[in-house]
Amino acid sequence: MAEEAKTTCYDSSCVKSFQFYLQHSGEHQVLRQCLHNILPGEFKRIGLNKSSLDVLGVGSGGGEVDAQILTLLQSTLPAVPITTDIVEGSSQFADNFKALVAKTTNLQKIPFAWHLMSSENYEKQVKAKGDMKKFDFIQMVQMIYYVDNLGDTIKFYRSLLKNNGRLMIIVTAAHSGSDILWKTYKKELAVDAITEYRSSAEVIAHLKSEGLKYEEHAFPHTFDITECFDPSSKTGEHLLDFLTAKNHFYQSFTPEIRAGILDLLRSKCSTEKDGKVIFNNNNSCILIYA
Ligand SMILES: C[S@@+](CC[C@H](N)C(=O)[O-])C[C@H]1O[C@@H](n2cnc3c(N)ncnc32)[C@H](O)[C@@H]1O
Repeated sequence: MAEEAKTTCYDSSCVKSFQFYLQHSGEHQVLRQCLHNILPGEFKRIGLNKSSLDVLGVGSGGGEVDAQILTLLQSTLPAVPITTDIVEGSSQFADNFKALVAKTTNLQKIPFAWHLMSSENYEKQVKAKGDMKKFDFIQMVQMIYYVDNLGDTIKFYRSLLKNNGRLMIIVTAAHSGSDILWKTYKKELAVDAITEYRSSAEVIAHLKSEGLKYEEHAFPHTFDITECFDPSSKTGEHLLDFLTAKNHFYQSFTPEIRAGILDLLRSKCSTEKDGKVIFNNNNSCILIYA
């Protein structure tokens, strides 16, 4: 079966797919609670004896998570001025983020610097300029899948951390539904925007191999994928598109591969409860020390 046109994480179909997923899964609501539990303590440590704080968001999408982080930072250290830099590859996402800032009073107090480019180009630009702005807190939420090289990316962003700073990576957990799906169907799935699927397993293995200090916090999450098993359901098809990072699940794979993916989603990636298929979408929040 012919492959559909290559999908990149910057095109509008990808933006729509992620927004649909967020609405359906409630991921950001669960993430908000997780950040609320972890970050105030971290911010107090990071902010100790500092008269200002500089934050960098990489792959921030529409900025909903950045808004939560910055709001938490402001409420934890209300007297400390904050600056924020954003590196985002998609202009559509960046426009959504700017619109969110424009309507959010507490964010308007923060000066934002927008770097509308890929993380790889930001790294090249920073290295070419030579004078690196350093940061107290750098966050990469659900974006480490897309960077060209995991080790180089962690090394570069750690080099931008100030004394006592933290690099936060939020990524799908080892053995979560997505980890099992993408590793089982690597050949079929890891061909477009994501060519090497990474879960917390790969991130932690890398940190250990480099002897870097980190903390890992589990961030349990599930969502209902029952509709994926109804071929006439549009919701089901959109969820399958998101889970497989395709624009059209039914046109992208042979019937055998589709059947195999659906079987795996039900049997190994989910649990069944009260007639519903509940996908294991556990995530991991990894805080890497400077
Ligand atoms: C799954 S979305 C996550 C968005 C946001 N962090 C969140 O959790 O809501 C992935 C984001 O990473 C961005 N992205 C993907 N590859 C990137 C790269 N190489 N450099 C910078 N941003 C990238 C995409 O444009 C998108 O905004």
